[in-house]
Amino acid sequence: MSRIRLHPSGRTVDCRDGETVLSALEQAGYALPNNCRAGACGECKVKVLEGQFDQGMVLDMALSRAERKDGYGLMCMAKPISDELVIEFGTADAKPKLFPPRENAPFVVTDRIPRTPRIVELRLRPLGQPLRYWPGQYVMLGDASAGAPPRCYSIANAPRPDGEIVLQVTRVDGGPTSNWIHDTLDVGATVRLSGPYGTFIGDPSVDSPVLCMAAGSGLAPILALTDAALRRGYRPPVTLLFSASTAADVYERGLLSYWQARHRNFKVQVTLTRESREGGLTGRIPAILPGLFPDLSGHAVFIAGSPAFVEACAAAARTLGAREDRIHSEGYVSQHIPEAPPPERLMAGALA
Ligand SMILES: Cc1cc2nc3c(=O)[nH]c(=O)nc-3n(C[C@H](O)[C@H](O)[C@H](O)COP(=O)(O)OP(=O)(O)OC[C@H]3O[C@@H](n4cnc5c(N)ncnc54)[C@H](O)[C@@H]3O)c2cc1C
Ligand code: FES
Repeated sequence: MSRIRLHPSGRTVDCRDGETVLSALEQAGYALPNNCRAGACGECKVKVLEGQFDQGMVLDMALSRAERKDGYGLMCMAKPISDELVIEFGTADAKPKLFPPRENAPFVVTDRIPRTPRIVELRLRPLGQPLRYWPGQYVMLGDASAGAPPRCYSIANAPRPDGEIVLQVTRVDGGPTSNWIHDTLDVGATVRLSGPYGTFIGDPSVDSPVLCMAAGSGLAPILALTDAALRRGYRPPVTLLFSASTAADVYERGLLSYWQARHRNFKVQVTLTRESREGGLTGRIPAILPGLFPDLSGHAVFIAGSPAFVEACAAAARTLGAREDRIHSEGYVSQHIPEAPPPERLMAGALA
């Protein structure tokens, strides 16, 4: 048994003989970015400050000689061989560090898939280095010269070695950027993404049942979070409640069914709000939640979608006992700035 000490927090994690550092960290609830888990992508690169480890077989393109010399290692393959290994990890309170955002990184639109009558999925490949991000984060996409101001879009997939980024965009009536994405942006176009941004990444040290609630393209960050959690072997039950207006607005059925068949702890339930169907749930999530989850006091809750949806679901979760610090949400607030202040603001100003 070895001990891994996290710098700068000083927290320690036990690592069994033969176990990798990545696996020991995950067992203890510390999330380290990772992708291939085989020494090929470089995503789990960390600086080792003290101690020795067996790096195992890894690709030079994932860990260069210069990086090895500087003390870096790939934790998915690294096994400690000294009593203690001190690694750089997170912040002073051991929370995962966010990646510095990049501006205007070039990507090519490799595919666009209509998912529902109002949601289109974009698949984007980087021309340069892949963007490093935590599942649940978002990027900004737009083209000012085409009259589409940059808007926030959640990344719908966990990081991949080829750096592909998937976005799912709902058409907003009269909205310049979502309509540009739906009507103008075509396969083969080069676009510029800025990011990653946001902290909808949850608390990786939580090891409790998880309830995710999503409506419309609010499914995007939930897909990325779930993908990453299931891939890293998260064992407690994970339930996804997805709200859609009609059966035609339900998407990603294939992927969700696959996850459900493959992972016994994952369950998806769909509710329709404007249509009823035999044997399925109907009604808005806040209304049906008490019947499905009478007690949420032990759950971590993740909610994404329109601000009104997020607010209503969070209020319902609180009523059912969910702890405030375990409720994580991403409200798709509009970045549209009205040209003139609304009349009530002018009035308040006049009265003040
Ligand atoms: C963190 C974050 C993540 C986001 N992720 C996604 C995502 O993954 N997918 C996605 O499709 N969108 C997402 N959004 C919303 C997105 O950023 C834009 O707000 C949306 O695409 C509208 O942009 P637009 O330029 O087309 O319209 P805007 O110019 O923003 O809006 C035009 C008009 O429509 C109104 N409006 C805007 N949004 C809505 C709405 N949802 N319902 C009703 N009226 C609205 C505005 O108030 C305005 O009057 C996210 C927002 C945030 C803050
Ligand atoms: S996860 Fe890919 S190199 Fe470690």
